[in-house]
Amino acid sequence: MGKKVLVIGGAGYIGSHTIRYLQERGVECIVFDNFSNGHKEFVNCSYVEGDILHIEHVRSVFKVHDISSVIHFAAFIEAGESVHEPEKYFVNNVSGTLNVLKVMREFGVKDLVFSSTAAVYGDCEDLVLSEDSEIGPINAYGKSKLMVEEILKEYVRAYGFNCTVLRYFNASGAGYDVGEWHSPETHLIPLVLFTALGLRESISIFGENYDTPDGTCVRDYVHVLDLAQAHHLALKHVNGFNVYNVGSERGYSVKEIIELCKKISGVNFKVIVSDRRKGDPARLVASSQKISNELGFKITYSIEDIISSAYKWHKRK
Ligand SMILES: NC(=O)c1ccc[n+]([C@@H]2O[C@H](COP(=O)([O-])OP(=O)(O)OC[C@H]3O[C@@H](n4cnc5c(N)ncnc54)[C@H](O)[C@@H]3O)[C@@H](O)[C@H]2O)c1
Repeated sequence: MGKKVLVIGGAGYIGSHTIRYLQERGVECIVFDNFSNGHKEFVNCSYVEGDILHIEHVRSVFKVHDISSVIHFAAFIEAGESVHEPEKYFVNNVSGTLNVLKVMREFGVKDLVFSSTAAVYGDCEDLVLSEDSEIGPINAYGKSKLMVEEILKEYVRAYGFNCTVLRYFNASGAGYDVGEWHSPETHLIPLVLFTALGLRESISIFGENYDTPDGTCVRDYVHVLDLAQAHHLALKHVNGFNVYNVGSERGYSVKEIIELCKKISGVNFKVIVSDRRKGDPARLVASSQKISNELGFKITYSIEDIISSAYKWHKRK
């Protein structure tokens, strides 16, 4: 058997799409996941059920399989929850990752692609965020990811690891036979589409007094298959320590997303304006110039493609 890419958290939303994208390009993958938020029905290759918090579970995969490199998606991801339950985030996202890195060292596997997030920028005032923009996460989720980025720098410097950090902006859309399926779901596009499908009575806008054109938060939505493309490129070029934003360079406000969902679904649903939530920056839009220039990344899906593909997936589910 040839060498495989170990995809930790590969039963989740972004992991399951990335695996299919990689397989189409001849990359053999193996999934490691504890299925805390992932889905067995999303896994289409060999897998090991285990938890990164148990180092023996991680070792068991490396003992049996010939692993060339690792893509590490596994984390808790709810920024809002992390404000109230920071420990949960530091334990899973930071301690869990340390176990992965320790075992990679033991087995001489040094290439890693890591899922980071736009949340590391917090309330940075730059209209378009580049990798050089000021860092300052405002929730424990973003802080946990930043801590891992710092740890990875040291693994590159001291142990000769090669680590590429991808800071994703809002992953969205669906492809192949999989889609976005978080429990609980807190992401805007699925929640708005659930409302269009009659699965919720209304959709809430959290705050309309932000310093943005229509007062609602602005985010950069990137199709999950464009994210998969970024992972394929990152894996091919992993060398030393590199950080790349992955976004579309275009921001959409909450109100704009709601209007687009109404248009694409053809359903007019109830919208409620509520108070702001803690830990929500006003605006997060990426410059993806660095990954485009250095790795040849290109956005191939529009916001309409994102919402239509997500709508199709949720309707089928
Ligand atoms: N979804 C987004 O918009 C977004 C944006 C920025 C960054 N990210 C990052 O991308 C990564 C993947 O996000 P996603 O949306 O696919 O999330 P997800 O919850 O769908 O996938 C995460 C997977 O990791 C697994 N996992 C969690 N803790 C584990 C543990 N201790 N041991 C083994 N497996 C474990 C879960 O079961 C799940 O399958 C995360 O690291 C997240 O922080 C996501």
